[in-house]
Amino acid sequence: MAEGVAARVGSGHSTDRRPVIDVRLAADHVARTLRSDVRVGLTAAPKWLPPKWFYDARGSELFEQITRLPEYYPTRAEREILTAHASDIADVTQAATLIELGSGSSEKTRLLLDALSETGMLRRFVPFDVSEQALRKTADTAAVDYPHLGVHAVVGDFTDRLSVPRSQGPRMVALLGSTIGNLLPDERARFLESVRASLEPGDWLLLGTDLVKDPDVLLRAYDDSAGVTAEFNRNVLRVLNRELGADFALDAFAHRAVWDPANEWVEMRLRAERAVQAWVGGAELSVLFKPGEELRTEVSAKFRHEGVDAELHAAKFTPYRWWTDSGERFAVSLARVV
Ligand code: AVJ
Repeated sequence: MAEGVAARVGSGHSTDRRPVIDVRLAADHVARTLRSDVRVGLTAAPKWLPPKWFYDARGSELFEQITRLPEYYPTRAEREILTAHASDIADVTQAATLIELGSGSSEKTRLLLDALSETGMLRRFVPFDVSEQALRKTADTAAVDYPHLGVHAVVGDFTDRLSVPRSQGPRMVALLGSTIGNLLPDERARFLESVRASLEPGDWLLLGTDLVKDPDVLLRAYDDSAGVTAEFNRNVLRVLNRELGADFALDAFAHRAVWDPANEWVEMRLRAERAVQAWVGGAELSVLFKPGEELRTEVSAKFRHEGVDAELHAAKFTPYRWWTDSGERFAVSLARVV
């Protein structure tokens, strides 16, 4: 599909444009933010850490494995929606620029890039991610497979600040995979406002959200029988051990997934099975866990249609379309800036 479009659009265009990689993170960004997150989260009661620290190379690979687990339905459900509606999204938006935040899922990106290329309007692809390594791969592949596009990758933290390159024609910001569920409600509000502030009338937001459902189904998705999610969860301690010279004993911690019905979110936690003392050299911090004490490593919020629309309205987006998979497990919504 994309090849045909490329051949058509390609005449008169350069076919060997290299991707631009725009690094908007200081070289010591990871070390500094990890250290400050650890100082805040591991001295709090209860203890917590932000989920973004799962995703080193090993964590990203474990997450890829999670998306293929029988219990982890969100990836398949969202793919079903995008397969069915990518061409609707392209027809409605006529996007000239696709900005993909947290551009992990190359397969879903392709569904969008293919459909948007078919309209003949798409000119530019802007993958935006914290991981320079992951981003380079995405950018290089996209530049080869979509030679009619300018690929402008941005290495940055989209929860800090988001500046979206200007362009001719409508822009669409996509945040898929229910990544937004990792943010707490006030962080979500700030995030959506900052996306809105970087866009102009005529631009679009495409948002993937996992939906509230039977807690047993939810909990199985976050506590799989093969133990991959447990390894993913413990990986955050490996990251602390490596990046901050910490000495956490990984085998002292058990994986837990808990449904919080009041907040309608799943929490992942690591529970110390015995007393654990650890030294986090890079943060000059000594951490003590009592037996049974838990560390919250992730919040994964689950959504309802009314709630998503309310959050979009609050950030001054206008909800425009809402699609779910056949099992109504997951939703993709399209909102516009008017
Ligand atoms: C990538 C944040 C959407 O919350 O479902 C998977 C991460 N955590 N299994 C999610 C995750 C545990 C995932 N997100």
